[in-house]
Amino acid sequence: MITGASSGIGKAFAFQLAALKMNLILIARRTKQLEEISEALRKQAVTVEILSIDLTQHVQRRQLVDIFKNKDVTLLINNAGFGGKDEKYSSMQFNDIQNMLELNIVVPAELSYHALQSFKIKDFPCGILNISSLAAFKALPNSILYGSTKSFLKEFSLGLSEEYKTSNVQISVACPGNVKTEMFAMELGVELEKIKPSIFVLEVDECAKLILKAFFSGKKFIIPGFTSKMLYLLINFLPRAFISQLEQSSK
Ligand SMILES: NC(=O)c1ccc[n+]([C@@H]2O[C@H](COP(=O)([O-])OP(=O)(O)OC[C@H]3O[C@@H](n4cnc5c(N)ncnc54)[C@H](OP(=O)(O)O)[C@@H]3O)[C@@H](O)[C@H]2O)c1
Repeated sequence: MITGASSGIGKAFAFQLAALKMNLILIARRTKQLEEISEALRKQAVTVEILSIDLTQHVQRRQLVDIFKNKDVTLLINNAGFGGKDEKYSSMQFNDIQNMLELNIVVPAELSYHALQSFKIKDFPCGILNISSLAAFKALPNSILYGSTKSFLKEFSLGLSEEYKTSNVQISVACPGNVKTEMFAMELGVELEKIKPSIFVLEVDECAKLILKAFFSGKKFIIPGFTSKMLYLLINFLPRAFISQLEQSSK
């Protein structure tokens, strides 16, 4: 089950997992995109189920609980996320604040719970892969809420992974840096096609490939790509004010 599979990293996960002959349940709001993806994936002889729901709506996501109860979901990828544009916390629309908290925190915590309930009765390997961000390591001005929500997801995943270390369930968290997707384009305020190749921006297929390779080799904490690994070290060791200035001048 992949949330946020209609574009970006989630869509790339879908194609790469289908190539491994995994049957898929794809979730996002945009029906047309999901239909086109499932049509393309069926050619790879896998079963693809699509569910167009708004995950921020509690009533709509209740049907996922039944899926965990009635189907053999073996891997949950909590990928759907909301970043919003760069702005001060107090300038954000209140509705965006609620959606970000819901989608980036409540949804992955809730889906992980239901997945773990269903994994309990299974005697084969299962997993949860949560997509956090490098932003999780320091909440920076103009994206404080996003960084804080991703920080929750990282800590939640690492803690859970300890709880499950001697079980059939692998819990991993990936913290990508910049990836060329709609979300990154929105953050920059440019069109996706206008983002030029750069060592600071990972291509989406490469990002998904590096994350899945690390996940299937058993890694619990994944930072995809050399540049992101270097940035991770910098972010952790340099003061917040310095990182913040660097980030603003790179845009
Ligand atoms: N791009 C980056 O630089 C970057 C860096 C670090 C981490 N990440 C993380 O990577 C994940 C994937 O993002 P992306 O970069 O691939 O961006 P993206 O292309 O914008 O993908 C976001 C996905 O989430 C889905 N989604 C958003 N709101 C939803 C909602 N309310 N209900 C259901 N689905 C919803 C979107 O589908 P619909 O619009 O069809 O609903 C879309 O499929 C996110 O968690 C993001 O925080 C991205």
